[in-house]
Amino acid sequence: MGVARTPLIAGNWKMNLDHLQAIAFVQKLAWSLRDAKHSSNEVEVAVFPPFTDLRSVQTLIAADKLELAHGAQDLSAHDSGAYTGEISGAFLSALSCRYVIIGHSERRQYHHEDDALVAKKTVAALRHGVTPVVCVGESAEDLAEHGPSAVPVAQLRVVLDELTTDAEFVVAYEPVWAIGSGQAATPEQAQQVCSALRATIAETLGDDTADRTRILYGGSVKSGNIAGFMNQSDVDGALVGGASLDVDEFSAIARFPKHVGTV
Ligand code: PGA
Repeated sequence: MGVARTPLIAGNWKMNLDHLQAIAFVQKLAWSLRDAKHSSNEVEVAVFPPFTDLRSVQTLIAADKLELAHGAQDLSAHDSGAYTGEISGAFLSALSCRYVIIGHSERRQYHHEDDALVAKKTVAALRHGVTPVVCVGESAEDLAEHGPSAVPVAQLRVVLDELTTDAEFVVAYEPVWAIGSGQAATPEQAQQVCSALRATIAETLGDDTADRTRILYGGSVKSGNIAGFMNQSDVDGALVGGASLDVDEFSAIARFPKHVGTV
């Protein structure tokens, strides 16, 4: 039995909610969790708004001492300079972002981000003290051609090669075919890949790092299926897209120990 890992429920808002909507949403989410006597020591909850919302969300969380973390959805591999439109990890750090999502399949697909760039961005996040949430996952074609874990493991390996054993990072396994499709992986499929990813971390960075690193499942997670994922020994939380935009639904996902009955 390894170390206890605090589960992380992460809401990836994608390109939804402006800064005013974000304030209202985060307030409602905090009330909902408070009403349910949610403890962030038991399950950490984080929101990932668009860049333009971050300052408002940061201010609200700090002023009201909300038990929520916030993160960004991407960052630049560079720290500063002539990179129009990019956002430095230093800026995220200055806004107290605890996390940053890196290599989401939508960035890989629409912005042609490859494994080498994902690795560079991961190192950039660590350089600025922001914990990277590194996304990996196979397409339906990859699954048919290479089986369930070959592609996500290969993607992660490129990132791990750039890290040291003391790096604090999170991995999110998100099968591309499950994202936004309503067709989630089965808990057993998620466990199989998450366990292969953990074995890859152990191989590259050692057992201690593998034991303490959280691995999330993402792809059509809802309050009705979260329990099945959280019952798996190598799944330490979820990266939630669509369902993270509904306060009641996201709050119910964060309260998964009630559905699981363990933890
Ligand atoms: P989904 O998205 O929950 O809407 O499937 C997950 C993600 O893209 O992170």
